[in-house]
Amino acid sequence: MKKTTLICIHGFSFNKSIWDPQVQFFKDKLNVIAYDFRGHGTHNKPEPGPWMMAHFAEDLKKLMDEKQIDQAVICGLSMGGYIALHFVSQYPDRVQALILADTQAAADGNEAKDKRYATIEKLKKEGSAAFAKDFTKVVLAESTLMQKPELRQKVEEMIAANTAENMAMTVAAMAARKDHMDALAKITCPTLVIVGEQDKATPPEVNKKMADGIKGSVYKTIPEAGHIPTLEQPEAFNKTVNDFLNQSKLFTLE
Ligand code: MLT
Repeated sequence: MKKTTLICIHGFSFNKSIWDPQVQFFKDKLNVIAYDFRGHGTHNKPEPGPWMMAHFAEDLKKLMDEKQIDQAVICGLSMGGYIALHFVSQYPDRVQALILADTQAAADGNEAKDKRYATIEKLKKEGSAAFAKDFTKVVLAESTLMQKPELRQKVEEMIAANTAENMAMTVAAMAARKDHMDALAKITCPTLVIVGEQDKATPPEVNKKMADGIKGSVYKTIPEAGHIPTLEQPEAFNKTVNDFLNQSKLFTLE
């Protein structure tokens, strides 16, 4: 029997390496795929803009088609969650289960949109290294910033490695994304919503609200973690995902 496929989608300004501990942990039990989305990490193919969330979701469909994957567990962190929500709204039959980590279903309001445009200006003016320095402080928990200097440096370098131009195009795509709050009621697959207790970018209450909109979803928080619990508390994150996949009977024995 074929193994269940788990596809992991990283967040804005990151790359697939935020899933290294999950790839390592699940590689024997699942067909795990973590990929770099357009404009990030090793994805070097020039993609003409403007970008919309639909483009990122179509890229995911293309990847699944190319690899002949009919259905997968789709796991998205933050902007990866925006992509996952867009994807499930378009292709529900391709989604076996959903894992939404540190994300939200609501679209940006006017204030959030203004902040995005300020970020685009900042990226264009100051470049990716200056942005990375500030954004690392937003995405990591206070405890991580204090106690894990090597992780702080790794995250800062990961963000700075993306070009300011690509990150600016991605910020514009996030600002233009659709609201999925009403569409949550249409999600019928097993769903886990998981969030770092100290997430400042998409806080627990925002994730809880999303979980409340999805019938039968499981909601879990990860202590001592911010916006990247996959790296900040990998053991707790892996255990939560493992329990969910077990309970949802998503592991297949070969
Ligand atoms: C992300 O990590 O993908 C972003 O923080 C999401 C956002 O800015 O809305």
